[in-house]
Amino acid sequence: MIKKIGVLTSGGDAPGMNAAIRAVVRTAITNDLEVYGIYDGYKGLYEGKIERLFRKSVSEKIHHGGTFLGTARLNEFVHREIREVAIENLHEYGIDALVTIGGDGTYRGALALEKMGVKCVGIPGTIDNDIGGTDYTIGFDTALNTVVDAVDKLRDTSSSHRRCSIIEVMGRNCGAIAIWTGISVGAEYVACKELGYDEQDIIETIRNASKSKRHAIVIITEHLTDVNHLAKVITENTQFEARSTVLGHIQRGGSPTPRDRVLASIMGVRAVEELMAGNSGTCICEVENKLVAIPLEIALETKKDHVTEKYRAFKMLW
Ligand code: F6P
Repeated sequence: MIKKIGVLTSGGDAPGMNAAIRAVVRTAITNDLEVYGIYDGYKGLYEGKIERLFRKSVSEKIHHGGTFLGTARLNEFVHREIREVAIENLHEYGIDALVTIGGDGTYRGALALEKMGVKCVGIPGTIDNDIGGTDYTIGFDTALNTVVDAVDKLRDTSSSHRRCSIIEVMGRNCGAIAIWTGISVGAEYVACKELGYDEQDIIETIRNASKSKRHAIVIITEHLTDVNHLAKVITENTQFEARSTVLGHIQRGGSPTPRDRVLASIMGVRAVEELMAGNSGTCICEVENKLVAIPLEIALETKKDHVTEKYRAFKMLW
C-alpha cells in the first residue's frame, strides 16, 4: 500500500505542468496520501531537493506557465550510481512512488528507476507532442496557439511589404508544431524532419506563389537548415524578399490554454489512481478522448505519425 508519493517535472518545461502537479497533489491528499515535491527534476532528486506539499502549496498555480517545481536535464541520470543516490533520497523521505511529468527523456528516467524498484507513473508533458501512445501531450495546444498567433502577426507585415516569412518552430525531431501551424495559417510550405528538406522544392513553390500572392509563409522545424541562409536563397531566386524569424523558447512559455489545463488535470488525477491501484511502470495517455495507461516501454517504442494525413490535406488546400 502506497502512503507517500513524490512528483517531479523534468526536461523542457511545458505550459500545463503546474496544472498536472496540482492535480497530483490534490488527488493524493484527498486519498490520505502524503505528497512530496521534488525540485528541478531528476537533478533535484539526486541532490535531495525534496519538500512536502500541501493543498495550499498548489493554490494559484493552475494558470501559470512553466513549472513551479522547476525542471532540468540531467544526462548523468543514465548512470546507475547517480540513480542509486536518487533512490536513497527517496528512501530517506519514505517516498514509495513517483509521478514524473515530462517528455521521452523523463520517461526513460522513470523506466530506469522502475527497473530498480521505484514505482513510477509518467505523464506526457512536452510542447513537441512527440510521445508515443498518446494523441496529445500537455503543452502542445498552448505552444501551437502561441506559434499561430506569432505567424498571424508576421503575415500582416509580410503582406504589407510583399515578402516571404520563414518561421522556424520547435519540435526537435517531430513536425507536429510545424504541420499543425502550416494548416492553421494556410502556409505556402511546411518543412520538417518527417517530410525532409528540399531547398529546390521550396524555391519553386515560393517562386510560383510570388507570381500571384502578396506574401508567402514557410514553416520549418528547427535543426533542418539555417533559416537566414534560406531567406537569402529565396530572396535571390524568387520575386519575394524574404525574412526569417526563429520563435525559440517563446513557444514554451505563457499561460496554458483551457485544453492543456484540463488534459493536465485529468492526467494528474489518473496518475495517482494508477499508483493507488498498484500499477506502475506505466504512463497516462489520451486516446480518442479517453485516458488509458500503457507501459512506459511501449510509449517509448511507439512512433507517432503526425504528418502523413495532415500533409495530404495541407497540399489539397494550398
Ligand atoms: O522538447 C521540448 C523542446 O522545446 C524542443 O522542442 C527543443 O528542441 C528543446 O526542447 C529545446 O531545449 P532547451 O530548452 O534545452 O534549449
